[in-house]
Amino acid sequence: MDADAIRAGLHTTAIGSQVVVFESIASTNSVAAEYAISPDHHGLAVFAEYQTAGRGRGKNRWISAKGDSLLGSIVLTRCSLRPELLSLTVAVATAEAIGLAARIKWPNDVLLSGKKVAGVLVESKAFDSHTAYVVGIGINCHQKAADFPEVLLSKATSIDLEAGTVVERSMLARRLLTSLEGWLDMAGQDPGCAVDRWLQLSIQLGHRLTVVYGGGRFSGTCLGVDPQLGLILQLDCGGVRMFDAAQSYIAKES
Ligand code: BTN
Repeated sequence: MDADAIRAGLHTTAIGSQVVVFESIASTNSVAAEYAISPDHHGLAVFAEYQTAGRGRGKNRWISAKGDSLLGSIVLTRCSLRPELLSLTVAVATAEAIGLAARIKWPNDVLLSGKKVAGVLVESKAFDSHTAYVVGIGINCHQKAADFPEVLLSKATSIDLEAGTVVERSMLARRLLTSLEGWLDMAGQDPGCAVDRWLQLSIQLGHRLTVVYGGGRFSGTCLGVDPQLGLILQLDCGGVRMFDAAQSYIAKES
């Protein structure tokens, strides 16, 4: 992958206006956060063939062999979306870029055939003059079943495994940047539109879940998502409660 290949034919005006590709770096999110110091870097995208310290949500690491995944982070220095809405919007944009009937598991895991194919890590950084978001996206592309550790075999997949062909990562990167630009615009104008699309793609709407939050476990039925407050759960013990993505995670589907 190189920056010219990704930029070729890219029609977005902001997202992907600048593209940088590294062979190997610690984490595209970390490098993108350095670019975020300049407000002029709005839309700059950092990609890497390999990360030595890729990060996942919470305390998870994100590991991928060289060249197997699309690993990228996009700098947003002019984004007015609240974190919850941004997180949902990025999931929608990623699922649509992947296609192949991709679905979403709250808050922003993207699944194919019920297995995780992509993850999103949104981080923010405050500077004196502005606050920036870094949107990190990892998409499994060329992994074979044997490449996943046994514990992940039933939970993870790749685009190639599901599509039965070899996805071209530069083209996927272009589709991702284009999709992101479209959905960020859309969510800025009409948050309800992004939420509606997220709900259409959700595998959890109407299903029972257990959410872990602040050391407690909360079981109930997923009623939807709120663009500011997060997952809406009808609790088994009565009442409705919201859970924000930054502090909660799904324990299991029951
Ligand atoms: C998750 O599902 O836990 C989120 C995974 C996010 C991984 C991507 S890979 C590109 C970017 N750089 C990182 O260090 N993490 C994100």
